[in-house]
Amino acid sequence: MAALPNISNIREMQAWSDHARREGKRIVLVPTMGFLHEGHLSLVRQGRQKGDRLVVSIFANPAQFAPTEDFDNYPRDLERDIRLLAEERVDLLFNPTAEEIYPAGYQTYVDVDQVSQPLCGAHRPGHFRGVATVVLKLFNIVRPHAAVFGLKDYQQLQVIRRMTEDLNVDVEIVACPTVREPDGLAMSSRNRYLTPVERDAALCLQSALGKAEALVVGGETAAQRIREAVVEEISRQPLARLEYADLRDPRELCPVEEVKGPTLLALCAWVGKARLIDNRILAGEGP
Ligand code: PAJ
Repeated sequence: MAALPNISNIREMQAWSDHARREGKRIVLVPTMGFLHEGHLSLVRQGRQKGDRLVVSIFANPAQFAPTEDFDNYPRDLERDIRLLAEERVDLLFNPTAEEIYPAGYQTYVDVDQVSQPLCGAHRPGHFRGVATVVLKLFNIVRPHAAVFGLKDYQQLQVIRRMTEDLNVDVEIVACPTVREPDGLAMSSRNRYLTPVERDAALCLQSALGKAEALVVGGETAAQRIREAVVEEISRQPLARLEYADLRDPRELCPVEEVKGPTLLALCAWVGKARLIDNRILAGEGP
């Protein structure tokens, strides 16, 4: 099996990247929190196409978890992750410690304003502040030319796009489609919290998105009626508890009343201990 070079120190990481840049190499970063699945690996394969040096970071970022959330229990399996990344012929793993990223006295954060506020932002205060902060830090440490993110975390992608644009960060943001299980459930590290019965129940997210899509294809344009159909579909599943279902502009994430062009339908539901999110662009393609 191929070995996987591994750096956990910030200065060493920057020196590695500076060297690659001096050699004229194009560096691509795939940021993750580990416990890798096919969704992550699809980003890695896309990243491979986008440059000459592929860096994957594994860092479970405490700053994006509220004290009440699952940071301590967030699944980890570094040995397996390393094996999977070596098989993908990743050039380097960057896996810093929390003390390396947030040393004593740390006090600087990135707040992306409007796009962070609705959807997950409304239910996870401070979450996108933690995401934007760590992603900007990773950009400054790994110094990539491009970075790859999944459309599964649609709002996260828009927050990162907005941040890079607003702060003139010279990194190309590449978006990858959501990878799903054969029955349609979006892959997520959190799916491992589901019992077999809950795993079946989780399919209601996918069927709710399908219902909405069918309504739009059938000519429905009223966001409220589409939303009602989604709420009804989730409520038919007793093991699921809807957190939000919302139709939004796919770039600015502001509310939409009429589906006249590409519209984001974003969905979040709890099934057992798992908080699951999914989304679909209705009536066209996203930005
Ligand atoms: P994590 O949840 O590990 O996800 C890392 C990347 O994989 C994200 O860009 C996410 O959108 C993507 N991803 C997850 N599941 C996917 C799926 N089923 N299909 C396609 N892509 C998928 O998202 C984070 O980590 C963190 O917030 C991070 C960006 C690393 C900052 O800490």
